[in-house]
Amino acid sequence: MPKTRVNSGVPGLDELLMGGFVKGRSTLIAGGPGTGKSILTWHFLFDGVEKGENGLLVSLDQTSEMIIDDMSDFGWSPEDAMENGSLTILSGTLKLVPAESGYEYVIGFDHPLLREQPFTVPRLAELVRKKAAEVNARRIVIDGLGPLLELAGNRSEIRQLVYGFIRDIVDSDSTIILTHELKASDTAQNDEMPYFICDGVVVLNMLYTSGDYVRTMRVVKMRGANHTMHPIMFKIGTEGINAFPDARLPE
Ligand SMILES: Nc1ncnc2c1ncn2[C@@H]1O[C@H](COP(=O)(O)OP(=O)(O)OP(=O)(O)O)[C@@H](O)[C@H]1O
Ligand SMILES: [Mg+2]
Repeated sequence: MPKTRVNSGVPGLDELLMGGFVKGRSTLIAGGPGTGKSILTWHFLFDGVEKGENGLLVSLDQTSEMIIDDMSDFGWSPEDAMENGSLTILSGTLKLVPAESGYEYVIGFDHPLLREQPFTVPRLAELVRKKAAEVNARRIVIDGLGPLLELAGNRSEIRQLVYGFIRDIVDSDSTIILTHELKASDTAQNDEMPYFICDGVVVLNMLYTSGDYVRTMRVVKMRGANHTMHPIMFKIGTEGINAFPDARLPE
């Protein structure tokens, strides 16, 4: 049975993905700072808004005000979408606060589940799952896995945390996209554990070539689904991401 695809909202990326992300599965968007991870997830969410598929955006590194402001700059209408229930934004930031023994993490969500202390990843997963059910979300975005990874002590904990978090949230009717920050330097060691845990991985990059930087995206893997391997170029402009699947990358 061919898997059901859910459009990414970026036409060139849908070509690479042979139609879109895989419904009911998780896809990781990984890339360095400013490579376009958040904007890509907004295309996915507003594609859903247009099609009557509700979206839930959980951001762990930007406030709702900033997100709404930036989305509006690209011509989307987040406030209308939030008013009619097709978009819900949960944003919060992790803070370290003094505790009885040392420090503990607190997340700044204004939600009863997370006002209790200490903050835990399963508790965040519970909040996201409940919220997704409440707003009937078919498209779920977790923007910024970094804070969750910070909470994990060792590699097996990271695997359990991220895997358990995704499993707790996603069901066969919804599609989840997560973003993962890679370090800017080519030589930096990145934590690739989330690559193995998610069903699909798309990497965004900035290549220095012929005296300038070129934005590229590449599908690294997509479990159980066909996809194109080669990287494509894209630009970010006033309408967000514009991909060029037919353009040749400079040598
Ligand atoms: N109006 C615009 N026109 C052109 N490019 C823009 C515009 N707004 C943002 N950008 C580009 O998009 C980048 C930000 O994209 P985005 O926020 O999606 O990146 P990110 O990968 O999520 O970054 P971070 O890791 O910091 O969260 C900016 O650094 C800038 O290069
Ligand atoms: Mg971002």
